[in-house]
Amino acid sequence: MRKLYLIGIGAGNPEYITVQAIKALNKVDVFFFMDKGEAKQDLVTLRKEICEKYIENRSYRMVETADPVRDPTISDYTARVELWHRQRSLIYEEMIAKELEENQCGAFLVWGDPSLYDSTLRIIDQIIARGMLCFEFEIIPGITSIQALAARHKISLNGIGESIVITTGRQLATGLSGTADRIIVMLDGQCSFNSVLDEELDIFWGAYLGMDEEVLLSGKLSEIASRIEEVRKEKRQKNGWIMDTYLLAKPRTVPQAGSSTTDIA
Ligand SMILES: C[S@@+](CC[C@H](N)C(=O)[O-])C[C@H]1O[C@@H](n2cnc3c(N)ncnc32)[C@H](O)[C@@H]1O
Repeated sequence: MRKLYLIGIGAGNPEYITVQAIKALNKVDVFFFMDKGEAKQDLVTLRKEICEKYIENRSYRMVETADPVRDPTISDYTARVELWHRQRSLIYEEMIAKELEENQCGAFLVWGDPSLYDSTLRIIDQIIARGMLCFEFEIIPGITSIQALAARHKISLNGIGESIVITTGRQLATGLSGTADRIIVMLDGQCSFNSVLDEELDIFWGAYLGMDEEVLLSGKLSEIASRIEEVRKEKRQKNGWIMDTYLLAKPRTVPQAGSSTTDIA
């Protein structure tokens, strides 16, 4: 039977990869990639570098396909993403059927970990539900951007016995994230921290975590929000893309930061 691996490769640094992931990489015959356009070519390149670095004495193939474009005419966000996932699942299904022989092993290299804001698992579930293609699959966990953020700022994510909320910039902007003491924000292209009215909050921000271009900034949100926005814009322009994640923390639960002042590296 065909076998598929969803391998979490960590969020940016080739050395975030686990021993379990390296063992899985060395069993794969065909790697499947989604081409997300020129601006995000760095992300595909990193996946290819990982294969070259960790796969020994084994021949493998790489199959790349273009990512379908989300339909901008669908105004409802969830409906738009659901349709996009359906389109992706049909493309994946065809690609697996065509490129992977019955006794072969294929893999998707998933940024960070497959459980966090990633559609690969949902897409695999859709293919299984359609019942046209038979395969077994296994997930290899990876280091998420949240763990990378905490490690690089030398902070714990939660206060003693407290909860943390993980959310998106979109949800934060609409005030849907509740009143947790600590909030992790991902997928924020709009600097939604500007919509947060609590002047006292601290922010621990990181972009390109684990990569050569990494930038870290931390301090009082009200004091450094505009600096983050400026740096974000500048880096995005320079590199053609940016991925950033941040923790918002109420001051009474301020994490023991490695540095309490703004720092940039
Ligand atoms: C589609 S989600 C993928 C998350 C990924 N599965 C993970 O485990 O981190 C993309 C978002 O993850 C965050 N992210 C991923 N890699 C990052 C990095 N190296 N530095 C900063 N943020 C990152 C950003 O918030 C970005 O918008």
